[in-house]
Amino acid sequence: MTDETEADLTGGVPQRRAKPALETIGERKLSPATRMMGHGYDPMLSEGSLKPPIFLTSTFVFPNAAAGKRHFEGVTGKRPGGADGLVYSRFNGPNQEILEDRLGVWEEAEDALAFSSGMSAIATLFLAMVAPGDTIVHSGPLYAATETLIARILGKFGVKWLDFPAGATREEIDAVMSEAATGKVALIYLESPANPTNALVDIEAVAASRDAIFADAAEKPPIAIDNTFLGPLWQQPLRHGADLVVYSLTKYAGGHSDLVAGGVLGSKAHINTIRSMRNTIGTICDPHTAWMLLRSLETLELRMSRAGENAAKVCAFLDGHPKVERVGYLGFLEQQGDARQADIYRRHCVGAGSTFSLFLKGGEAESFRFLDALQIAKLAVSLGGTETLASHPAGMTHLSVPDARKAALGITDNLVRISIGVEDADDLIADFEQALAAI
Ligand SMILES: Cc1ncc(COP(=O)(O)O)c(C=O)c1O
Repeated sequence: MTDETEADLTGGVPQRRAKPALETIGERKLSPATRMMGHGYDPMLSEGSLKPPIFLTSTFVFPNAAAGKRHFEGVTGKRPGGADGLVYSRFNGPNQEILEDRLGVWEEAEDALAFSSGMSAIATLFLAMVAPGDTIVHSGPLYAATETLIARILGKFGVKWLDFPAGATREEIDAVMSEAATGKVALIYLESPANPTNALVDIEAVAASRDAIFADAAEKPPIAIDNTFLGPLWQQPLRHGADLVVYSLTKYAGGHSDLVAGGVLGSKAHINTIRSMRNTIGTICDPHTAWMLLRSLETLELRMSRAGENAAKVCAFLDGHPKVERVGYLGFLEQQGDARQADIYRRHCVGAGSTFSLFLKGGEAESFRFLDALQIAKLAVSLGGTETLASHPAGMTHLSVPDARKAALGITDNLVRISIGVEDADDLIADFEQALAAI
């Protein structure tokens, strides 16, 4: 929640100021997990309420006409410095502002925005950054709806795109970037790990390639990355050269499979460009969802840490099981001899996450017998919730993907996608053990 505006900015009406944020105790810099309990919210501005109330209002009252005019002078650029304070709920509200402040804390981002879904965050980012004739350079694969948005929807408006595979080397990235640079590259868009292959993108190599190839350009295209699978705990792309980080907050950040939301984090300048588009088209999340996310963020570190530890134990059990062909888990890259992906993992990630691919021995029949036998794990798409989920991409999320593309992505009939939750790890192992026995 932003500070109250100064009395002189509100036409002489004194306003109460929010207490400054607590960031340190003495020399000690407080961790994000601690700051999630209070950052951006001053109870004394809300009747002492320990938790922020849900602000269900569509509009906000100006203290006087002069303050209203000053606000719009800021919004329209007639007065430098932009506009502080709240005016209308399509633009922002107290719950969303607190959420945005707290989202930024995890990755030390200058600013952040909350959206009504991961896809509305991505769509707003694209609309803000890209014009007809521009090119988007992206890693592949991307989440299917993001690929549709670029190729089928933005493509209709004359936007072009070029892609490189997620695991590409610097040389391969350079080749695609050079080809794209013959036109105007408006945005470099990455997804790492990629959905559904879990392939990692070398963010540092992409940033180095961008800096080299656009060295003489007046403006370098920003690098945005979808960090839904590992963020904000296990991978922090702003530290590795990305300019913007995109989230489906529906997943680990929300974490209870009970809301849909999105987020974008980055520099103030980029975020302000995206904010203008969000203000225009109204893709902000609602106050209730923002409030739910504030609650979720208080336990984010606990939940993600436990889910990550559980996944490591479950994958250790599954690895080498006689009914299992292979476990596609980031924690196994080294031992599976994937030197290049293991190198990216070592440089970029501090944890392997809790979403992985299980390749069973057999095909669709074996996968279905396994899925139908699960008793704790629920048969559902999505990931990052407190409960363990399992699904069959070839028969569900990727059913309509052409066979050749499915083969290229490694989406085979014996692939089961699993997102591990925060249950007891040994209970989960017992569930997987009996489901494997039922195949
Ligand atoms: C990597 C990734 N990005 C974006 C999205 C879209 O997010 P949402 O469903 O919140 O719109 C998803 C959804 O599964 C995803 O997995």
